This record gives sequence, C-alpha cells and structure tokens, in this order.
Amino acid sequence: MSKTTLKSIPVSEGQIIDLKIDSMAYDNAAIGRYKDFVVMVDRGAPGDVLKVSITTVRPNYARAKILEIVESNADYRIDAPCKLFKVCGGCQWQHLPYEKQLEQKQLLLKNFFSKLNLCDDVIKPIIEASQPWNYRNKVQYPVRTIEDTGRLKAGYFEWHSNDLINIKHCHIQNALFDKVVDTIRELAPKYKITAYNGKNKTGWLRHICVRRGIFTGEALLTFVAINDHLSSSQKFVSEVMSMHPELVGVCFNINTNTTNVIYGPKTKVIKGKGYIFEKINDLKLKISATSFFQVNTLQAMKLLEIINNYACLKGSETILDAYCGGGLISLSLAKYAKKIIGIEEVKQSIEDAQYSVKENAIHNVHFINGKVENKIQEVLEKDKPEIIVLDPPRIGCNKQVLETVLNSGVGKIIYVSCNPSTLARDLGILTNNENNAPFTIKSIQLIDMFPHSYHVECVVLLER
Ligand SMILES: C[S@@+](CC[C@H](N)C(=O)[O-])C[C@H]1O[C@@H](n2cnc3c(N)ncnc32)[C@H](O)[C@@H]1O
Repeated sequence: MSKTTLKSIPVSEGQIIDLKIDSMAYDNAAIGRYKDFVVMVDRGAPGDVLKVSITTVRPNYARAKILEIVESNADYRIDAPCKLFKVCGGCQWQHLPYEKQLEQKQLLLKNFFSKLNLCDDVIKPIIEASQPWNYRNKVQYPVRTIEDTGRLKAGYFEWHSNDLINIKHCHIQNALFDKVVDTIRELAPKYKITAYNGKNKTGWLRHICVRRGIFTGEALLTFVAINDHLSSSQKFVSEVMSMHPELVGVCFNINTNTTNVIYGPKTKVIKGKGYIFEKINDLKLKISATSFFQVNTLQAMKLLEIINNYACLKGSETILDAYCGGGLISLSLAKYAKKIIGIEEVKQSIEDAQYSVKENAIHNVHFINGKVENKIQEVLEKDKPEIIVLDPPRIGCNKQVLETVLNSGVGKIIYVSCNPSTLARDLGILTNNENNAPFTIKSIQLIDMFPHSYHVECVVLLER
C-alpha cells in the first residue's frame, strides 16, 4: 500500500464514486483503487464495476458500501446458494465460484509473503476441499429470546451488527446440526428455556454447541449457560437425545464471564458421554465439548499428510509438537518417529490427548499441560528434538518462543498457521539473517480448510 498522506486522500466519507474491483482482501471485502487509493468494498467481487458510497476513511485505505452493481464478471460473481448470505456474518465469499475463491486465496497469500523474497516455486498451489459444502464438524450458535413470542432464536450475527439471525439451514455445516438446533428451538418454550440477557441478568442459555465425528457419526450437544440450574433438565435432554440418536451425550458448560469467550471453565455431563470419538486413518481420537479439534475433518487429514511429508521421518527423530491441542498431529506422527512431546495449555485437551494415547496403545508420545512459552526451554534442553511443529492460535507465536527455537539445536520447523498475517511476521523473525543460524523457507503449502470464507491454512517447511 502506498504511503498516502492525509492531504492526498482522494475520497471523503459519504462521497459516491464508481469503482472497479481488482481482487479479494483478507477480510469481508474486495479491493478496488480510486485514483490509486485502496477502497475496500464488502461483498464486492473481482471484475465488478460498482457505484459505492464511502463509509470510512483511514490514512491508507477507505471502506465503502455497494449502492449499485453497474457491471459484473460472470466468471467471478454468482448468486450465493445461501439465501441469508447478504446479511449473515458466517461466510464472506459465497458469491464467488469455488475455483475463483481458490485463485484469490493463492493471490492473497503471495502478497502476504512478498516481503520474504521467496523463489516462485516455494509457494505451492492451494489444495482444494474435496467437500466444499457441509464441511464444518462443529457449530457454536449464540441465542436470543424473541420478546413477543418467547421463542428461541439461534444463529450467527448479521455482519457489522449485534442482531442475531435465526439460521434454519446453514450450507457449510454438517447437516445434523440444523435438525438438532431446530429441536431445541421447538422444545425451549415447553422447558422454559430462555436466552441469557447480560444487560438485565435474566435468562439462562448463552450458546448451543454441537460437534460431530464425521467418520464415527457420533455427536455431542453442549448448552453453554449461566449456571446448571435448569428444572426438568433430565427430561429435557432425554427428549432431545431420543429425537437424535446420533447424540451420545449432552453437557452443560457454565460460563459466567462478561467477555465474548464462548466456554466457561466448568463442564457438567447431564446425560450420556461428555465426549465423542473421531476416527482419523487408523487412530481413534477422543474429543470433549471444549477441546480444540480442526473444524474440517477431511481437510485435516490432508494437513496431516503434508506434515508427515515435510517431516520425512526415518524413525530415529524426536519431535516437539507445540500447541498440540488434543494431540492430533502428535498421534498421527507417532508411528514414524522415536519420541514425540506435545505441549498444550488447555487441560481438557491434554486429558483427551492422554486418553487417545492409551486408546491407541501408543507408547512414544508424552504430553505436557502448560503454556509453550513456559515449557519449551525445558523440553529443548532435556529431549533435544530435531524437529518442531508449531501450530499456534491466530495470534501466532510468542516472540520469546521463536527466539528460544532459533537458539536451540532444532534443524527443522513445520509451522502450521490459520492466519497468514501473523505467519508472515513469525517467518520474518525465523529467517532474519541477523539471527545466528536462521532458518530458510523450503516450501509453503496452502490448504483450503474453510471454503466460502476468506480464511486459509498454510503449512510451512523451514530448515537451517
Ligand atoms: C490451532 S490449535 C492447534 C491444535 C492442534 N495442533 C491440532 O491440529 O489439533 C492451537 C492450540 O494451541 C493452544 N494454545 C494457545 N495458546 C497456547 C499457549 N500459549 N501455550 C500452549 N498452548 C496454547 C490452544 O488451546 C489450541 O489447542
């Protein structure tokens, strides 16, 4: 982006301009240029010629909303299959054909990594989703009570708004979720279930969460609520479970926080099991209500294949799996390595990982509960891993973690990321020539874990 001074900004709030869209942004928006100045337009598509109204002006870019689509390119703009697409904040790119979504993600990533001066062949073509619809294995819907009728609404928020959409059918989720959520809407008045209202501290329910094992078919329903005091709770959950035999359990998670974090620290199993099993290749994995698990199971399997190829194991290696969640990567590499150590801060995820280790009769994997930044030094000194897998949350790695890895004997890093912005930052540190023995980026594989959204997963191979 050019360093435009405030003086030379060619647009102002409320101004109406004609704009041609060039590409998609890593955002809700598409990008056009007005007198060389970047203008971002929500729900724009490449090839659009638009009449837009400027809504916000910043030093380096402006935002605008579409008033009229004057012209569009049929290769890039289609009618979104979901009738709620125009208002729902759940997906952002349904108005682009799937192959064009892939093209735009590839382009975006090339731009993110442009400062790293990579050779052309380092960034590999994106791996497409074999199932671009109904792929999500988890839903987490906030709820509201409709004042006039007392009925329950559940769904995603409208984009740029706190208004909740009552979603009856979501195209990107496992089909079971629509049915289970609908049953809860129907039964809510009978069991006097109302949505929690943080302002006047009334009501009970905050979120309805369902997750599913795609290969086992097992499903788990979790009500995130302000407390566990629901009269007739046994009768209620029995009725829900009898209508959906896929449900192996129902939990209440208690969340009294005032933040927007979905889950509270305590989960109570009300009926059945507090977890599901999933089968990934020859592994049987335990997944509890609040543990992390990749949301796109089929693409997660491709992710594991890439990691395995990058690791290129001979059987003698020790691997550190940092930010290991429920141990998916550790367990899938176990039979090809000598020893694997996983570090994860969420206790429930570690308990799941340890359960899965036993369930699969694996003996060379060891998990540590704690923050990576607090535990990594000890593991590097004691176990001397040759390879480290970094799969941090969206904020990326703590700088201290990267410095510790740079100063260690680790020869290979496999960095898995769902946020190209923090990934590019962290790769800049790991490859900085001013560091002693920095790493070199050998390969970057993009993988589409999140069709119809702007999100994209990257796996990067770095070697000394
Ligand atoms: C993107 S997930 C990856 C999980 C796992 N590798 C997988 O593929 O299933 C990131 C994980 O890092 C954990 N986490 C976040 N910050 C952490 C920290 N500072 N130390 C340890 N774990 C952390 C989260 O709880 C989450 O399980």
